[in-house]
Amino acid sequence: MLKIPQFEEIYGRPPRWIVAAPGRVNVIGEHTDYNDGFVLPMAIERYAVMAADVSPAAPPRILVHDSRARDTAQIDVSKPVTKADPRWSNYIRGVVAGFQNRGLTIPSLDISLVSTVPLGGGLSSSAALEVCTATLLETAIGTKLDPVEKALLCQQAEHEFAGVPCGIMDQFISVMGQKDHLLLLDCRSRQTTLVPMNDPSVALLVINTNVKHELSGGEYAERRLQCETAAKILGISSLRDATVETLERARRKMDLFTFHRARHVISEIERTLQTAEAIPNANWPAVGEYMYGSHYSLRDDFEVSCKELDVVVEICRSIGIKGGVYGCRMTGGGFGGSCVALVKAEAADNISNRISTAYKFATAGGETKNGIEATVFSSRPASGANVIKS
Ligand code: GLA
Repeated sequence: MLKIPQFEEIYGRPPRWIVAAPGRVNVIGEHTDYNDGFVLPMAIERYAVMAADVSPAAPPRILVHDSRARDTAQIDVSKPVTKADPRWSNYIRGVVAGFQNRGLTIPSLDISLVSTVPLGGGLSSSAALEVCTATLLETAIGTKLDPVEKALLCQQAEHEFAGVPCGIMDQFISVMGQKDHLLLLDCRSRQTTLVPMNDPSVALLVINTNVKHELSGGEYAERRLQCETAAKILGISSLRDATVETLERARRKMDLFTFHRARHVISEIERTLQTAEAIPNANWPAVGEYMYGSHYSLRDDFEVSCKELDVVVEICRSIGIKGGVYGCRMTGGGFGGSCVALVKAEAADNISNRISTAYKFATAGGETKNGIEATVFSSRPASGANVIKS
């Protein structure tokens, strides 16, 4: 699964270090992280991997070859690093800048990068790249950051260098994921609880719709604002402190959109906690229902789903528990990307095929005459970032 970057072919010598950081799938708890709520993601067996060595180049610079972009970026680290082209390098630049801001000196480095986290699939390819960069810099400099500080540094890189006002979920799980566990993260206290997920009778399928609707950037920031507005109207610092009852009582003080956005967040926090309780009891039918509930709330109240994601969820619903599907929902920011489904392990291959066929059929017509090919894979919960060679 893990492809080692072709460092030697590019730089003519073997790498000194190899580090990896995973993407993630969020099982439940969507658009709750920036509302101080709970999330329940897991790291997936898809990684950003960097192989690297120091270089004698002076003044110090970082050279990164990205095999996916088939492009090389050069970053001058003799002065404060700022945003620049190529665009993909900004995730790396942002993390380098975060290390510089902590007074750490960055050496000259040659790096080759390979990522198996799909781009635009809602599986946090950018967080994987940021956390991978941070793990490499820790190794090269010989200074290990506290895991929370490391995740926050990567989040800041995303805010300032990629312009995405994301929450803390993606970077936290890429740093702190544990094999065979989901991570229940309290986004207010930043406390984490490992939730074992190693029942061999179930599997999690990731279904990438392979569509990404362009409106995602501005819509995400707009949702954040609407949540903040709702909290302000309720007189609280974040929607974490609201209940369905307090929201209902304030219904007439806000417009319908704001009310719906808040209702999603409040109910999603509740579902996330209920799911974290049901998983250790192997109550899979209940977990499945929370997942469907989450999807419908994201579709109707938060309005971040899209036709293709809804199609996948409805296909899963029609296969049903009898056919081996407990539940399914969109995962990540929305407007395309992936769904996550909880299925009976013995039926996983058959279900993957059924979903792919039905999805292709349902999306045929109009612009996509022959239908869209979904990419379906299953993943066990993986470990967070680690050093493979040092
Ligand atoms: C994106 C963000 C996360 C989170 C999700 C929605 O993935 O990066 O911080 O807000 O959307 O749950």
